[in-house]
Amino acid sequence: MTAQQTELQNLPSDLKRELLPKHVAVIMDGNGRWAKRQGLPRIMGHKRGVDALKDLLRCCKDWGIQALTAYAFSTENWKRPQEEVDFLMTLFQRVLRQELREMVEENVQIQFVGNLGALPRSLQAEISRSMAETSHNQAIRFTVATNYGGRQEILQACRAIAHKVQQGLIQPDQIDEQLFERHLYTAGITDPDLLIRTSGEMRLSNFLLWQMAYGEIYITDALWPDFDRTEFYRALCAYQQRERRFGTV
Ligand code: FPP
Repeated sequence: MTAQQTELQNLPSDLKRELLPKHVAVIMDGNGRWAKRQGLPRIMGHKRGVDALKDLLRCCKDWGIQALTAYAFSTENWKRPQEEVDFLMTLFQRVLRQELREMVEENVQIQFVGNLGALPRSLQAEISRSMAETSHNQAIRFTVATNYGGRQEILQACRAIAHKVQQGLIQPDQIDEQLFERHLYTAGITDPDLLIRTSGEMRLSNFLLWQMAYGEIYITDALWPDFDRTEFYRALCAYQQRERRFGTV
């Protein structure tokens, strides 16, 4: 931790605790560009990206934010070079194995959302273990979107509801927002209040399409491995300036 970051151990005094987002989501973009700038292979950017994510999780916990969701792997990311996909799958598995003890000690509840059945078996096993061992933890809810796509999530919810209608378990008139949300991967998780995207791209990239209906979006030019407590502080300052109206005047 740098000297400046040590200073940011506690919630900075100019941030209002009552106006903190309850749930922050992140699109961790720019790992490849970060690595290229350092003259390193792309995969080194992902390795450093894990460190940035760990720091952010700790920071959210220190500052009293209840939930963090990170977009680790999209349904489109399979189109990357096989070598990079393999590296990422192995990285997720290794990080999960290495960090599980600490997550248990730190009272972190980890969960995964996405089409998890299409992931390598060994990764699925690690995911199940980490979710089971942290399921009663309460300090912070950490959700990792892996093989996740917002459109696919909405489609699978539609399919599940259609089957229930076909079986006579649900009447079409009963389909409302609450019922629909219970069929999303994120059932039971509150919608994000703030979505942060790094590396300057201004897109949702198929992330939390339903859940971000009223969420605030903050874009920073910082590349993900450089996203630290100072950057997070800036994002929260910007968020606290926003007037959230949820469609009212
Ligand atoms: C986007 O940068 C980043 C990813 C697709 C991977 C993000 C994954 C991690 C940081 C690891 C998280 C680990 C766990 C266990 C949750 P990019 O490759 O698109 O960068 P570029 O746009 O500069 O090419």
